[in-house]
Amino acid sequence: MLGGAEAQGSADTASGDAARGVDKSVFGQLPDGRQVDVYRFTNANGIEMRVINYGGIILSLKTPDAQGEFDDIVLGFDSLEEYLSDEYRQANPYFGALIGRYGNRIAGGQFSLDGETHSLATNDGDNHLHGGRQGFDRVLWQAEPFANDEGAGLVLRYTSEDGEEGYPGRLETEVTYTLTDADELVVDYRATTDKPTPVNLTQHSYFNLEGEGSGSILDHHLTIHADAFTPVDDTLIPTGEIRPVAGTPFDFTQPTPIGERIEQDNEQLTFGKGYDHNFVLAEQTASEPVLAARVWEPDSGRLLEIATTEPGIQFYSGNFLAGDLIGKRGQAYEHRSGFALETQHYPDSPNQANFPSTILEPGETYRTRTVYRFSAQEEAPGS
Ligand code: BGC
Repeated sequence: MLGGAEAQGSADTASGDAARGVDKSVFGQLPDGRQVDVYRFTNANGIEMRVINYGGIILSLKTPDAQGEFDDIVLGFDSLEEYLSDEYRQANPYFGALIGRYGNRIAGGQFSLDGETHSLATNDGDNHLHGGRQGFDRVLWQAEPFANDEGAGLVLRYTSEDGEEGYPGRLETEVTYTLTDADELVVDYRATTDKPTPVNLTQHSYFNLEGEGSGSILDHHLTIHADAFTPVDDTLIPTGEIRPVAGTPFDFTQPTPIGERIEQDNEQLTFGKGYDHNFVLAEQTASEPVLAARVWEPDSGRLLEIATTEPGIQFYSGNFLAGDLIGKRGQAYEHRSGFALETQHYPDSPNQANFPSTILEPGETYRTRTVYRFSAQEEAPGS
């Protein structure tokens, strides 16, 4: 096992495999002078991931295509300044970041718990989105790299104080990224609190399996193991209905190009400006991750499979990307040039009695796991 100090500079893992490793270097400085570090992980097959301790942001993820050519498949930037710029903060796409305390929206930035009304920061019209103005995507996490027989990774810890962004309770959060030699990124989330509080942690990477900056994601074939979704109003708050996907453009139970039905005349697609909806996963277990979604890109053959212990997944087709942010290879991130699949509980659960609860009680431990599996194949996969 590597301790934090040993992982400074370059180090091989405990198994002694020279191809695997972790290294750490300075990425930049926050306006208040605190240092932001970047960690680079490489697995036994050459997959490389870079993560910073600011926002737990995944900066880059290089995986092979069906010909064995590596490319970076997540949207993002190469400098801290770009993540801190006014332009970026206004566009607010949350590239690669950890999201908390509550991924997705809470209506009117309000909820009641045990007879008390709590008011949260509102940062999406009248609604609260992704933890507020200073969510977990914009805080400095304490980081500890490790390597073991499965792979290498980073433990990130952040304590959110009682009252932060309006949330009750002091929340101690720990997120672990593990890049395994089985070509998986495993994300483990844990949290404890000293007062009841809503928690819904997720990861907000935008993928383009042809390579970031290579254009539209509309030709990617998507499968989501969901027979139902949660329709929304025009501010993207769920109406409370659980609606079957059958016969609608939301039916991804068979592999379907993302763009095939995205322009259909459909009220839900109009509200989302495309797909921006929570899917109700068919098989839900809180113990072992089950396959939730699969995305295959025909030109590169790259395949991404996502398994989770969560009951929902938000499929967001990058509708608000507007071409005004320039990414790592100097290409503008145009409308729908990346997609996010955010494993989560349903949006606005604190206000929706029929949705699975997101309230964490003192004495309980919040625990969820999501696994991203990377591979490539020339043939389209089955469902
Ligand atoms: C939301 C979108 C939002 C995007 C960036 C997604 O998770 O569903 O509505 O625009 O994050 O903020």
